[in-house]
Amino acid sequence: MSLLEVDDDVVVRFGGVTAVDHASFTAGTGLVTGLIGPNGAGKTTCFNVISGLLRPAKGTVRFHGRDVTSTPVHRRAKRGMGRTFQRLEAFGSLSVRDNVRAAVDINRGLGGLLTPGHRSQAARVDALLDRVGLTHYAAERADAIPTGTARLLELARCLAADPALLLLDEPSSGLNESETEAFGVLLRELAADGRGVLMVEHDMDLVMSVCDTIHALDFGRVIASGAPAEIRGDAAVQRAYLGKADVGQVA
Ligand SMILES: Nc1ncnc2c1ncn2[C@@H]1O[C@H](COP(=O)(O)OP(=O)(O)OP(=O)(O)O)[C@@H](O)[C@H]1O
Ligand SMILES: [Mg+2]
Repeated sequence: MSLLEVDDDVVVRFGGVTAVDHASFTAGTGLVTGLIGPNGAGKTTCFNVISGLLRPAKGTVRFHGRDVTSTPVHRRAKRGMGRTFQRLEAFGSLSVRDNVRAAVDINRGLGGLLTPGHRSQAARVDALLDRVGLTHYAAERADAIPTGTARLLELARCLAADPALLLLDEPSSGLNESETEAFGVLLRELAADGRGVLMVEHDMDLVMSVCDTIHALDFGRVIASGAPAEIRGDAAVQRAYLGKADVGQVA
């Protein structure tokens, strides 16, 4: 049993568009799993099904072995699913620190009683800022920091809930090369902590260097699953990227 199982051929349709077309894949504890594919392949739609924003027309989502296909978003979150969004969601007028503090407070309300005696709120906020490398941005307003940095803030806010599964939608976009490298190290650490990471990502260098397993989507279908070297050499994956914006990134 994997931590997350998208199973029984999940289907999502929007009118005439089949955004997810009989897709099944998994993500495991202690692993970084990549979900790749050209624009419009259905990656974010899969995340919406996994996190509970969308109910599939067909198929099952299992988390910790339990069927959560009909479980509301907040209950999935409480059971340990954390998600960041492709569009940023932080409170722009608050400082970076206050954004993280708000997330810590919300999670104390939800689950704090389950872990009595844990560190003070301020220490927890500092630890989260440090974890994602944002300590020296702590006093900045969230709407004044660069986009890539704001994505790290999203991640810190998500980690405040101590999720077992992290769903990250294009987390590295806006990061420069050295920031991306550091982010890759952070992803490995988060997995080594015993979390599962499922990441939608267009930066193929990052995906290929950090992921244990990759699932490739095209037109809503899983066209390949495997280790980075297998995906890199997969003819169907290469065809899927040919002629599209990402051409040349997989080869
Ligand atoms: N709410 C919606 N209503 C109608 N069509 C939608 C909706 N959401 C997504 N789609 C369509 O479903 C398909 C998959 O979209 P999705 O956003 O999941 O792709 P993606 O792989 O995340 O793409 P990107 O890499 O550009 O973020 C696309 O054809 C998209 O236009
Ligand atoms: Mg998307």
